[in-house]
Amino acid sequence: MASSSTVKPIFFFLVFIPFHFPVLSSKPKAPTPSAWPLQFHSVLFMNNSGTLQKVDLWYDWPNGRNFNIIQNQLGKLSYDLEWDNGTSFIYTLDSNKECRVLHFHVGVLRPNWLDGANYLGQEQKDGFLCNVWEKVDFIWYYEDVITKRPVYWAFYTGYTAHVMTFEVGAVLEDSEWQAPLHCFMEAEEKRKRDVKFGSLGRIGRRLGKLMRGVSGASMAL
Ligand SMILES: *[C@@H]1O[C@H](CO)[C@@H](O)[C@H](O)[C@H]1NC(C)=O
Ligand SMILES: *[C@@H]1O[C@H](CO)[C@@H](O)[C@H](O)[C@H]1NC(C)=O
Repeated sequence: MASSSTVKPIFFFLVFIPFHFPVLSSKPKAPTPSAWPLQFHSVLFMNNSGTLQKVDLWYDWPNGRNFNIIQNQLGKLSYDLEWDNGTSFIYTLDSNKECRVLHFHVGVLRPNWLDGANYLGQEQKDGFLCNVWEKVDFIWYYEDVITKRPVYWAFYTGYTAHVMTFEVGAVLEDSEWQAPLHCFMEAEEKRKRDVKFGSLGRIGRRLGKLMRGVSGASMAL
């Protein structure tokens, strides 16, 4: 009788301490955004202050390249081919033969470019329950809580992206990654005109500035 009353409190102590200790000592850890797959193809619906675009994004980190094929609604089809050495070719393949060659100080976004983003909690977006992060007041990024796929992001300019497809491992064949001949003619003259470029360049430059050392450069636009 006497022995059972002294053993019980000890047993209680041993069993419950290990379970209580972690709860008392640490807060729940904020989720972190998934790194981008090394290669993927994504179809994005973009809204640039009311101007709608469909973008085919081909992200190819091992080959140091990133491609945005941008179809403006009932309008221009343009190509934004970015290399990890900081050179971007933005061109059309129609009879206008436009091309702008831009030079950034940083290259393609690294797969972990979202590291260090601030967790803002969960929110419903486009019908998906998402974890939401913000990075350097530049981008707000929404990722599906269950599948961890990106669903939506928004830049500080109001430029937004809705992720329609996300094909992990899809690669565009090498022959498609070739800027057209007209990009290499009068390159010097074109470079001078590059001083003026639109929201694409602005966002790319700002991203480059903010994330230099942390990650890569211009963004999936
Ligand atoms: C595009 O964004 C503008 C705000 O910038 C909004 O008024 C408009 O409804 C959006 N269009 C679509 C199709 O989402
Ligand atoms: C960067 O790489 C691309 C593709 O190889 C090339 O066309 C371009 O000239 C390079 N830019 C620089 C500054 O070397």
